Parts: sequence; C-alpha cells; structure tokens
Amino acid sequence: MIYNTFSIPATADRYLVISQKQELLDIIEQGTLQNSPFFILGGGSNIVFTDHYHGTILHLENKGINLLSENPETGDILIQAAAGENWDTFVQYCIANHWHGAENLTAIPGTVGASPVQNVGAYGVEAKDIIHSVQAIDTTTGQERTFLNDECQFGYRSSIFKKKYGNQYVVWSVTFRLQSTYKPDIRYKALSEALTTAGIDNPTPRQLSDTIATLRWSKLPRPEETGSAGSFFKNPIVTTDHYNQLKSCYPDIVAYPVPDGFKLAAGWLIEHAGWKGRSLGRCGVYHKQALVLVNLGGCTGNEVVALADAITADVQKLFGVTLEKEAIII
Ligand code: EPU
Repeated sequence: MIYNTFSIPATADRYLVISQKQELLDIIEQGTLQNSPFFILGGGSNIVFTDHYHGTILHLENKGINLLSENPETGDILIQAAAGENWDTFVQYCIANHWHGAENLTAIPGTVGASPVQNVGAYGVEAKDIIHSVQAIDTTTGQERTFLNDECQFGYRSSIFKKKYGNQYVVWSVTFRLQSTYKPDIRYKALSEALTTAGIDNPTPRQLSDTIATLRWSKLPRPEETGSAGSFFKNPIVTTDHYNQLKSCYPDIVAYPVPDGFKLAAGWLIEHAGWKGRSLGRCGVYHKQALVLVNLGGCTGNEVVALADAITADVQKLFGVTLEKEAIII
C-alpha cells in the first residue's frame, strides 16, 4: 500500500497506525518518539519521500465527528472532528447536517488533523476561518493541550504546529465553529465566474460544493489517476517595489495585494518560465496548472526534487523571486 498521493514507494523503520488515544500515550510512554525521529502522516497528500525513513511514521486513524454545542442566539455551532477523519468526508458531513462555513474547502485531499497544521485553503476560505480550537498531545510528555484559534499563529499555509513546534505536538482533534445560517462566500473570482457560467445566482450549499469540486478537478489532477501533491509551491509574496518592477516588464503578471506587498501566482511565474507541460525524468509539470508537479509513472522522490530545483532556479533567474515548496520533502 502506498500512503502518499504522489504514489512514490517508500519504507520506514516503523509504521504505526493509531486509532485510540491510549495507543499514542503508550508509544510516548515507551520512549519510541523520544529516541528516534518520527513523522506524522495524515492523508499523505503533501509529502514527497526521497529515501527510506530512518524513524517512525505515525498514521492517525482516529474517527468521529460530534456536535458539541449550538448557540440559538448567535447561530454558532461547535463541531469536533477527529484528526484521522478524511477532510472531504468531514466537509460533506457538515453540508448534509446544515452546518455551514466549510463548503469552499470541498474536495481538498488529506485529513482533518492536517488542516490546522498547514492551514489549508481554497476558493477564498482558509481552515483558520472556521477553526475554533485544536486539541493536541505533547509527544514529549503525553499531556493534552488545547490551542485556541488565536494561539495557533495561523498564516498562509502555516501555523504554530509547523513553525514553532515542528512535530512536538500531535493534533488529535479539531473543533470547528460553523454556522446554522448559510451565507455563501463567493468572492473568489474563478468561483463567482463558474457560478455565473452555470446560471446559478444564489447557490445552495450543495451547488456551491459541487461547483467548487468541478472547478478544482478541472485544474488539478485527481489523486487516484495521477500522482501529485497538489500545489507543489506556495504563491510567493514580494514587496510592492519588486511587484511594480515586475509589472512594468510583465504587464499581465497575476498578483493579489496582501498586507506586506503582493502575492504572486506561482503558476503564472512557472508557466512564463516555460515549464508548463514540460518534464525532467519521470516527473512533469501538469499541463493544466503549472503549480502542480505530477508523477508520469515510476517517478522517484529525487526526480521530483530535481525538477522542483530546476524550476526554482529558472524562476529566480527570470523574475528574481524565490519559490518556496508547499510540499514537505522527507
Ligand atoms: N496561473 C497561470 N498559469 C498556471 C496556473 C495558474 O497563469 O499554470 C494563474 C492564473 O491566471 C490563475 C492564477 O494563476 O488565475 C491563480 O491560479 P488558481 O486560481 O488556480 O489558484 P492558485 O493560486 O494556483 C491556490 C492554492 C490552491 C487552491 C487554489 C484555489 C496555493 C499554493 N494554492 O492555487 O491550493 O486550490 O488557490 O483557491 O495557495 C494546494 O494548496 O494544494 C492547492 C491546490
């Protein structure tokens, strides 16, 4: 069984599947995690293995989605989901129960536990917008700790779990604040255009979710058909001066203003560096979305890294912009 969406065969010293909290506490107690490196695997959708992993892979398979509370005055609904739940199963469960706010995050591969770690986002919404708190277990002591939303230091594809704590904490469950009142968020340009094209003015939650799934799979390869890690790079943020220089040379560059400058569409940069649809070894740049690297069949982790490095070098040379990987290389 290959537990990563890039479909790269890999091995590890130990592979432990955890579905009960006590199993994790026992492993911590035995010192397994203190004495050698370990890595927490969610859906394997953002990972590239380049070698045998000399350590322990923890695969969380705890399950459960529970309604914690409903406030009839504010309409706030608190839902707790186990880290091992599949992300889209969670989103669809919320839609079926009329708990609103997660619709735009439809069809993102991966697990609930990974959602706060890298603050997943799509179509104008990020996990941080609906996360109330994160329940985590400290792998050095076995103690449980709850991080409220503002303690998670959420940023673009980043959080305290990624930046400060590495894998000191294992996310065990996440509490989401959803709403009983449905207010569709259709500000994302490509989404509003897709709804207009489909002739939908006021999408129901189901229509919104279905439109997003269609939009997503029109640009990204389906993991069950083509190996990839979704967006391989982050969209880089540059200063306003740098953006103005680029804009004068490349008037059609795609960028969005952010508080500290401009966020550039990495897909545009890669495409205009001539890489869209090209390949190196058995790793390719997806022909419909240059931000995505794909397994052309039998590709190794080192081939992915070689292609990523070649693209990064060209984008640096041409635009003076440093691309940062969103995917984790281990
Ligand atoms: N573009 C190109 N050429 C390309 C690809 C994109 O010119 O080959 C330009 C297009 O003009 C497009 C713009 O870049 O309008 C932005 O592209 P898109 O709307 O497809 O979104 P993205 O910035 O490439 C981000 C997320 C995705 C998320 C989509 C939709 C990152 C790194 N990626 O992609 O997240 O689904 O927005 O919201 O922020 C993921 O993280 O794995 C992921 C898929």
